Amino acid sequence: MCGIVGYTGPRQALPLLMSGLRRLEYRGYDSAGVAVERDHTLEVRRAEGKLDNLAAVVAQRPAAGDTGIGHTRWATHGRPTEQNAHPHVDCTGATAVIHNGIIENFQALKAPLIAAGHTFTSETDTEVVVHLLEDELKQGKSLEDAALAVLPRLEGAAALAFISTSDPGTIVAARISNAGGVIVGHGKGENFVASDMTALLEHTRQMSFLEGGDLAIVTPDAVRFRSIADGATIERPARTVAMDAIAAAKSGYKHFMLKEIFEQPRAISDTLLGRVDRGTGRVIFDEDLKMDEAYVKALPRITFVACGTAYHASLIGKYLIERLARIPCDVEIASEYRYRDPVVSKGQLVIAVTQSGETADTLAAMQEGKRRGARLLTFVNVLGSEASRVSDDVVYLHTGPEISVASTKAYTAMIVDLYLFAIYLAQRRGTVPDAEAAKLLAEVFHLPTLIDAVLREEPKLKALAYRYHTASNFLHLGRGVNYPTALEGALKLKELSYIHAEGTAAGEMKHGTNALIDSSLPVVAIALQDSVYKKMLSNIQEVRARAGVVIALATDGDEEIVRHADEIIRIPATNELLSPALAVVPLQLLAYHIADRRGNDVDQPRNLAKAVTVE
Ligand code: AGP
Repeated sequence: MCGIVGYTGPRQALPLLMSGLRRLEYRGYDSAGVAVERDHTLEVRRAEGKLDNLAAVVAQRPAAGDTGIGHTRWATHGRPTEQNAHPHVDCTGATAVIHNGIIENFQALKAPLIAAGHTFTSETDTEVVVHLLEDELKQGKSLEDAALAVLPRLEGAAALAFISTSDPGTIVAARISNAGGVIVGHGKGENFVASDMTALLEHTRQMSFLEGGDLAIVTPDAVRFRSIADGATIERPARTVAMDAIAAAKSGYKHFMLKEIFEQPRAISDTLLGRVDRGTGRVIFDEDLKMDEAYVKALPRITFVACGTAYHASLIGKYLIERLARIPCDVEIASEYRYRDPVVSKGQLVIAVTQSGETADTLAAMQEGKRRGARLLTFVNVLGSEASRVSDDVVYLHTGPEISVASTKAYTAMIVDLYLFAIYLAQRRGTVPDAEAAKLLAEVFHLPTLIDAVLREEPKLKALAYRYHTASNFLHLGRGVNYPTALEGALKLKELSYIHAEGTAAGEMKHGTNALIDSSLPVVAIALQDSVYKKMLSNIQEVRARAGVVIALATDGDEEIVRHADEIIRIPATNELLSPALAVVPLQLLAYHIADRRGNDVDQPRNLAKAVTVE
């Protein structure tokens, strides 16, 4: 997804913008550009493709100046070409704009501008903004007043930043809706702007977060905020961000994804920290979860809304909450929920599950639930994200930044926090005896050790990946609480390796999927020794009867499976309800190594973005 950076201060802006853009690469992009201002001149450099292309352009044609903005673009309106890359400039080349999001009414705004003689050089929705600014600046307005005149005319989701030769040393940044973040980083005699705190951490931990409808006026010595609606001065005090910039680097791993897979034992320990009261044995969440016992006891229904991997975690959440707390749950794909006139029951809870907290479809589904009277709870990784701000209650995953587009450690943390939440509800509703709750909790505290054991098997998984990396299709089968594991294993494989992979509830095979099976189809069967083990063995036999190749994910010590599988991946035994957090780990490694063996860009798979902030 697009990224924004900006700098104003005594230093040369260009290298700072380039390093900020590098930090935002993980969001996914297909072109990039910078604009730098000095002595009433504006220099713009842009390039299609990866940042290395832009680096080559600026190496050949450097741009000097102490104020600048930079952008990585993920194409929505207009192809990913140099012409469509941001920044866009007005007809005089004096003002530049960068933009994340979509301006929905750009066609209506563009027609009169063209009629008035403006020349457009791109296919983007963004370019209208800079021509509108040009008209306002021509009337002698300052950049901030020009922005205040233009921004209310824009419809849609947008985070924007502008510089102009008319206002040297000034960056004006704005957030016109709740999608797409804008953060101001406060330095000493210099200030920064970014869409994401990752780009700021190397410079400052003092940050102000813009709300939807805010304008920031940023100069080297001052930062002011105004309301776009009425121009009134507003306060957005700086907060100290505790995130460690070092943690955002690869720490010796070939890819962020591999690093994040190996961080899972630590991430799970972190997410468990302080969440069980040692005196009472009860699950507790911090003050961000405000629901009281009476509400929990009366809770009639829960609806999960989420996308992709977070949707798979939500399916597991449903299983856990229904089993332990006996509350009926539905799980909805957020992009479906938002448009289908959903029924919200009186007093019900809508739970959003989202790593980034910025996924447009999830935010819209939350809004829909809220509008119809539901209480909102979010499980989210990114502090200060939009989802966390609009929710009544929040559970933070505390896994640290997840850089790889493919979600791994956030997924296992989601499962663990949903497991804790199911126990939290069960303890307050009296649906699980104390002894059973204590046992379930003891097991989750042992999970990091079990994941460590699975990670030690990486060489075997790599060898397995190298045996199957040329397959054209994969089928992942699971049942019960590990049906979502099959979906997630298939999603990880397809998004990274570009191999077609399908996850299926094993009981559904005879209703259609069996037709796919032949000797060229590797079938990953999650066959742990749990309540559906025997059923899974029958499904495996169906596969083998049709010459399919079975790669079984089995429990340590299971001898019977040897007779049924071509390949066996083993994981330690754990309780069935927790097993999805363990079973997914070898599937993450399998997908990673297959994709790496195929030479793919593992951290930034083609056509995908980390935070999907547009529909
Ligand atoms: C995960 O590997 C995917 N890249 C994707 O499905 C992701 O989980 C989805 O876009 C939801 O993102 P969120 O958790 O940030 O809301």
